[in-house]
Amino acid sequence: MQVIRTVAAMQDLRKTLPEESIGFVPTMGYLHAGHASLVARARLENACTVVSIFVNPTQFGPNEDFANYPRDEERDLELLETNNVDFVFMPSALDIYGAEKNTAVVHLNTVADTLEGAKRPGHFDGVCTVVAKLFNIVRPKQAYFGQKDAQQLAVIKKMVRDLNFAVKIIPCPTRRDPDGLAMSSRNVYLSPSDRATALLISRGLGAAKALWQEGQRDSALLVDRVRQEMAHGNFAGIDYVELVNGEDFAKMTEALPGAIIVVAAKVGQTRLIDNMVLE
Ligand code: PAJ
Repeated sequence: MQVIRTVAAMQDLRKTLPEESIGFVPTMGYLHAGHASLVARARLENACTVVSIFVNPTQFGPNEDFANYPRDEERDLELLETNNVDFVFMPSALDIYGAEKNTAVVHLNTVADTLEGAKRPGHFDGVCTVVAKLFNIVRPKQAYFGQKDAQQLAVIKKMVRDLNFAVKIIPCPTRRDPDGLAMSSRNVYLSPSDRATALLISRGLGAAKALWQEGQRDSALLVDRVRQEMAHGNFAGIDYVELVNGEDFAKMTEALPGAIIVVAAKVGQTRLIDNMVLE
């Protein structure tokens, strides 16, 4: 496994790689089995796998956890080595954004403006801009994104369509701990009692899905079912529980197949998101 630390070195390396079949997994590090599942899929489907680790400052708001975002380079590199990754791209923020303020920003309307976009202004501008830069630097054939960040996945798919990036976006299912909690780098912040509260999110989503499978299509009732379960916990705040369509994240009144129930809530200082696709 080779670690590449500058944009120039990554671009040089890219010229030596075969044009076809480069799989790319962008991450912010502090890797867990969810990330590893994306890597495994990329390894299966491509001759060569590139993983990036970059805690992207522009996707964090001024009062968010950029400074405290968990980091552990040594452990991440071990995990990637064990998973037989070929190349790890770990650029610095200065190298990615340059010394002057980056003035080119990728902004998407609609899908990026609701829910996470509304609660975290500028977040998807940061995500789209850095992913566009990474796509231009790595020039992958296929890129792997988790369903865990359902709206991010929809935003990236739309960006790729709208800007004609020559990359295929491959969605990968959400990995959960045995108790149901969606794996996340931020789970490390949860105390045992926080975790008991956090678990009510996946439990509520599971209960709503069971209702849907029994034939319930009224989105208000399905959303209520999630909230009922979450009411048993000690959330610092619930940003939203909504039932939306998976394309543009518009709210739906009837829960048609493919609809997604999305949740964002704070447990202590930690903001968690999760979702369940109804299919
Ligand atoms: P990060 O949160 O590190 O996630 C990297 C990728 O792993 C994303 O595609 C995310 O959806 C996926 N992932 C995270 N937890 C997962 C889980 N439990 N199961 C399956 N996949 C999971 O998402 C980002 O970084 C950044 O926004 C990034 C796209 C790298 C741009 O900076």
